[in-house]
Amino acid sequence: LEPPKIVVPKRQVEQEVDDGKKKVTIFFGTQTGTAEGFAKALFEEAKARYEKAVFKVVDLDDYAADDEEYAEKFKKETFAFFFLATYGDGEPTDNAARFYKWFTEGDEKGVWLEKLHYGVFGLGNKQYEHFNKIALVVDEGLTEQGAKRFVPVGLGDDDQSIEDDFSAWKELVWPELDQLLLDEDDKTAATPYTAAIPEYRVAFHDKPDTLSENHSQTNGHTVHDAQHPCRSNVAVKKELHTPESDRSCTHLEFDISHTGLSYETGDHVGVYCENLIEVVEEAEKLIGLPADTYFSLHIDNEDGTPLGGPTLQPPFPPCTLRKALTNYADLLSSPKKSTLLALAAHASDATEADRLQFLASREGKDEYAEWIVANQRSLLEVMEAFPSAKPPLGVFFAAIAPRLQPRYYSISSSPKMVPNRIHVTCALVYEKTPAGRIHKGICSTWMKNAVPLTESQDCSWAPIFVRTSNFRLPADPKVPVIMIGPGTGLAPFRGFLQERLALKESGTELGQSIFFFGCRNRKVDFIYENELNNFVENGALSELDVAFSREGASKEYVQHKMSQKASDIWNMLSEGAYLYVCGDAKGMAKDVHRTLHTIVQEQGNLDSSKAELYVKNLQMSGRYLRDVW
Ligand code: 2AM
Repeated sequence: LEPPKIVVPKRQVEQEVDDGKKKVTIFFGTQTGTAEGFAKALFEEAKARYEKAVFKVVDLDDYAADDEEYAEKFKKETFAFFFLATYGDGEPTDNAARFYKWFTEGDEKGVWLEKLHYGVFGLGNKQYEHFNKIALVVDEGLTEQGAKRFVPVGLGDDDQSIEDDFSAWKELVWPELDQLLLDEDDKTAATPYTAAIPEYRVAFHDKPDTLSENHSQTNGHTVHDAQHPCRSNVAVKKELHTPESDRSCTHLEFDISHTGLSYETGDHVGVYCENLIEVVEEAEKLIGLPADTYFSLHIDNEDGTPLGGPTLQPPFPPCTLRKALTNYADLLSSPKKSTLLALAAHASDATEADRLQFLASREGKDEYAEWIVANQRSLLEVMEAFPSAKPPLGVFFAAIAPRLQPRYYSISSSPKMVPNRIHVTCALVYEKTPAGRIHKGICSTWMKNAVPLTESQDCSWAPIFVRTSNFRLPADPKVPVIMIGPGTGLAPFRGFLQERLALKESGTELGQSIFFFGCRNRKVDFIYENELNNFVENGALSELDVAFSREGASKEYVQHKMSQKASDIWNMLSEGAYLYVCGDAKGMAKDVHRTLHTIVQEQGNLDSSKAELYVKNLQMSGRYLRDVW
């Protein structure tokens, strides 16, 4: 087996430039590819509708090398779309970070974008605070800077159906674009457009006698990112819960010696994992081809000319169907509506095709929301329910199974303590869906089953890479720190405490610190208990405050512990403390935020709006940092 060699995607999709034509640039800020997919879908449809205009899809990061170039190029834009995901704690995606900083903090002031007509579509999740913040800020900023909004900002909600939001928003876009881009005589002739189904060309090969094995640690790359992950062995694995627990939490250590990988305390690690064999076998059955079918995917014709049709992701390297399904296909997420349409197109039974089309239609919206989304029905479950749908491999990998995405974890170690290891603390995802399927989280199950080097020379490994974060200890170690992280939210703080211990051991004087941790029961899931106590004994941590939620008659959570320590927290903040929150965004981080607000209001004798301003200032000055999911 070899790690996925992922070709750097060609993210700029361009039509040929012709100077007499109106030019439309479609920008995207994407993390997992959804915003990029929407941008390209709009590109395909728009290109087919407006033959006299020229369209371009542009990765915001690739657009300009520096602020000056951003300004210079934006000044010339006349029609633009922005597909912007809001990610983490109201942050831009990695590839939009530079643009966003320039746009919100740059030198360009006043009304300077008068030539620009624009539309913004945001991708976010209503369950999170800062819903679609990035899209909203950019939308408003563009208007303030003189650009003309030709369609209301679209607020895609991933908690419901973001595809429906996108479709609904597109319906608002077309009439406006007709006005902007069509000549008078074309306006009446504008026709509705149906998206074509993407499809790779597939070539089948005799299975090579020996599959080429790539055991090189670095894959030939010196810089590792999502496109160039690095093979890394599992050195150590431990279960962190006691045997009484009905759940599981894995401590895993990746060996990064001789890989060129490095990290800083507070960073994230991206892990490419594998589907379980039982899931892969099920998929093979549904596709109806043998596991050892050896094939390659192509985005050009045999004679080298481009395929035409919708834009495709770069294909993965030639391999067997077993490997393709194991490493590259997301088989357990719920299918999107476009997937249902692709399945319908390949269903030999007319009733099945009709039903699939209905589920993807506007009339079938409620049933889609219920039968697929609410029931968390996976792609495989849906394919099982429509057995006559047998898409060819070229369609399956282009339009039906999305590419398996890396999973991100907050690194739970510090390079100051373990420079050759990346530690991960990962709770097992194992739950029954409303439809009765047992959903096993792909990566957490892989980690739980991993074979460490301590058990076998033939140990497990995964392609991994490091993603930089802004979750950092204060530069001055004397500045007090307040950490809040129940459950696996503990992860980055274990790294922080390792770093503080290393500093302490090298003779550095440390400021006061407090860690609010929460778990269910001291005897079951008080993970790293001994280590945490040692941090206190060795002076890396001044105080450990643990909330046990299922020991007493009533729930005790980290925010209750915070309220009990209100005056200490206030005093520390008054001395310039940094406050960190890590863990569940939907419940815990929201509740902790409210508690912080109350503490500031009561202890500081402030009214509610002044307290809000105080907390906002903490955030703006980088002293209130959150790593939440
Ligand atoms: P519970 O499961 O007993 O509700 C780690 O998951 C810890 O966080 C558990 O003790 C869990 O308690 C607790 N927890 C659940 N919801 C929370 C919330 N909204 N705020 C703080 N802690 C929470």
